[in-house]
Amino acid sequence: MKTMHNQEDNPEFSAGLVRPELASDDERDRALRPHFLADFQGQEQIRSNLAVFIEAARERGESLDHLFLIGPPGLGKTTLAQITANELGVDFKVTSAPALDKPKDLAGILTTVTERTVFFIDEIHRLKPAIEEMLYIAMEDYELDWIIGQGPSARTVRIPIPPFTLVGATTRAGMVSSPLISRFGIVQRFNFYTHEELASIIMRSAGILGAGINRDAAFALARCSRGTPRVANRLLRRMRDFAQVLGEGTITSGIVSVGMEKLEIDSLGLERYDREILSSIILNFGGGPVGAETLAISVGESQDTLEDYYEPYLIQSGLLQRTPRGRMVTDRAYELLGMEKRKNARNDDDANERLLF
Ligand SMILES: Nc1ncnc2c1ncn2[C@@H]1O[C@H](COP(=O)(O)OP(=O)(O)OP(=O)(O)O)[C@@H](O)[C@H]1O
Ligand SMILES: [Mg+2]
Repeated sequence: MKTMHNQEDNPEFSAGLVRPELASDDERDRALRPHFLADFQGQEQIRSNLAVFIEAARERGESLDHLFLIGPPGLGKTTLAQITANELGVDFKVTSAPALDKPKDLAGILTTVTERTVFFIDEIHRLKPAIEEMLYIAMEDYELDWIIGQGPSARTVRIPIPPFTLVGATTRAGMVSSPLISRFGIVQRFNFYTHEELASIIMRSAGILGAGINRDAAFALARCSRGTPRVANRLLRRMRDFAQVLGEGTITSGIVSVGMEKLEIDSLGLERYDREILSSIILNFGGGPVGAETLAISVGESQDTLEDYYEPYLIQSGLLQRTPRGRMVTDRAYELLGMEKRKNARNDDDANERLLF
């Protein structure tokens, strides 16, 4: 089993499919980003609830309650935060928790918010405690605690800030403290998109890009997009390339199946890394359970990417289980990879462990 990957031998890189965490600021993604709720497809429950809350806040002339968005990467959290500001017709300020190093970094932003501003903090599970404390007061009392001076003459002043809306997004709700979660009035959890929803997103994006695609091809592409609009859009751009160079320009089902084979993506939307993760658990860890850290090392992937990007879709596809003792593959994973399940795999290992000690 190979233990390290570099960018060159990752088929996603050579195909221009950069890693998800590197792609979020992709200029080309922005062109496809919906600006208003009407263009935001899928996530029906979130969309309809938010439409009501936004309208109510707008009618009352109040700031929208703080909004917490949870979900795997690429499902539309940042997009929805921006849409919220657009729908409210207010300023939009963006930062991410790792960029807030010192309390003054947060204070610097909070002192510039205007009435009803939507202030978006991405990766909110990474906030430092001192900054989180400051945020509690800002969210609850619309005030900023600021220490002036040093030593015995130091004193705290409270600076009022206009009512604003904090939108916090995370891929890891489990890492967000409960005092912070409890300060959000609206909590919305994203689900993976259905094939129908993804097909509509693909048709809309193809329209913006001026790419020809038929409905069957859009569905075929949707099935390979792991429930994720960002992946759907990225694959659409690659299929456009294949259609242009290998086909007649229009993206057809035939182009999609050739393209997917070239990108090593199967009909479930699994990439080579997904299959390596599963086969590593089977071959190296007897099917599991294995801890995320050990697994990440064995497939040469960062633990964050493993947990944020790969695992949620493998779990959703019924191929992987997260148990308190670690990750385990399911019977379906053995079937998918055409591998034999070893009888009493764990018992053998337990016996070996007993022999060693
Ligand atoms: N509901 C949607 N309808 C149409 N397009 C969408 C939708 N959701 C997301 N997209 C597209 O997918 C891209 C990725 O979405 P976005 O950046 O908002 O995801 P995210 O959840 O913030 O991801 P991350 O966790 O990586 O920050 C957007 O640029 C947009 O083009
Ligand atoms: Mg985002």
